[in-house]
Amino acid sequence: MEKKRRLLLKATGIKLGTPVYIYDSKIIKEKCRELKKNLPGVNLYYACKANTNPEIIKLIYNEGFGIETVSPGEIKIAHKAGIPISKITFTCGSIDEKELVSVVKQGIRVHLDSLHQVEIFGQNFPGKEISVRLNLNIGAGYHSHVITEGPDSKFGIDISQIKQLKRLAEKYKLRITGLHQHIGSNILSVPIFLRAIDALFKTALLFPDLKHLDFGGGFGIPYKPKERRLDIKILGIKIKKTILNFIQKYGRKIKFSFEPGRYLVAEAGYLLVKVTDIKKNPTKTFVGVDSGLNHLIRPAMYGSYHEILNTSNAGSKKEKVTIAGNICESGDVFAKNRMIAKPKIGDILAIKNVGAYGYVMSSEYNSRPKPEEFMIIQNKIIKI
Ligand code: LLP
Repeated sequence: MEKKRRLLLKATGIKLGTPVYIYDSKIIKEKCRELKKNLPGVNLYYACKANTNPEIIKLIYNEGFGIETVSPGEIKIAHKAGIPISKITFTCGSIDEKELVSVVKQGIRVHLDSLHQVEIFGQNFPGKEISVRLNLNIGAGYHSHVITEGPDSKFGIDISQIKQLKRLAEKYKLRITGLHQHIGSNILSVPIFLRAIDALFKTALLFPDLKHLDFGGGFGIPYKPKERRLDIKILGIKIKKTILNFIQKYGRKIKFSFEPGRYLVAEAGYLLVKVTDIKKNPTKTFVGVDSGLNHLIRPAMYGSYHEILNTSNAGSKKEKVTIAGNICESGDVFAKNRMIAKPKIGDILAIKNVGAYGYVMSSEYNSRPKPEEFMIIQNKIIKI
């Protein structure tokens, strides 16, 4: 299987040229179906910030997901991909009145992020229903940049300000019918999710008019070879139990949702790059490639690990190398001191698990163009 994949990626890299992003639609479908199956009765929204390619958004929507957006640009892309307004949500941070009003006027459900936003909403739409994002102090995630709760996080209305929130809602006759929480990203632990959901349920008891609760995203994937997968099956079983418990306590049925991004697309994506230079220094071998942090910023920005496969070398002889990009920055390194099948000039390397937060975070830094994106659909490779 791995050999077949390696050869397919090599042929693709040669045929299409490098650098290039390739996504396997089969993997995205499998991930969608896995979540649907294990989280029955929970509404699922794809956090499209992970990958906004319209073909990917369409594919995930067709698997029964709504789309979570964070900017007018993302809403526009979702529109173009044919997603109906009723299936789009918007989570806003640091937005101004004009943006907020325009999103609400489109009929999109918005999760308000601050007391100031509640005030603006109330002034423009008194008497309406609102959903608010809370910060319940359960931050989690693999890097401080992706922890979205706790005292250092810019997101959500702090748990200590619930009284003020309620007062503001009363002032404008707003009914708080939704609560939203997103604790962080790439979380691999079932207990952390359960702890966050418990905290949200506890807080929800203080709000009598709720119609929906959103648990956010954050489902992680194993980037490192020996990392344990998040057990979605167990998570699903445990969540079902806590939800039933909560409904009993709350006394009324309400809707629940998750908004995963990474989990659906990360493992479907490869960035194919070509070896352009090999430099043997006294203590290190640098392997230069025709891509860099402008195309995949995760290693430089978060110290993220991405497996790298030499698709051109089937031999088992491995060498310890540092794989560096073609951008004029010392931090432009995809992997440090990594053992991979001995690379030579012209080899095609596949950087794995880049379907999420890969292309979307790319830039034309150093005036090097962005790569193209292709998708494997039933053994055909299509430009998307
Ligand atoms: N919902 C909200 C409100 C979010 O802020 C995010 C991600 C998600 C859902 C989806 O989270 P996911 O399921 O993908 O973990 N660039 C970083 C990740 C930033 C995540 C931002 N918010 C990375 O490359 O790891």
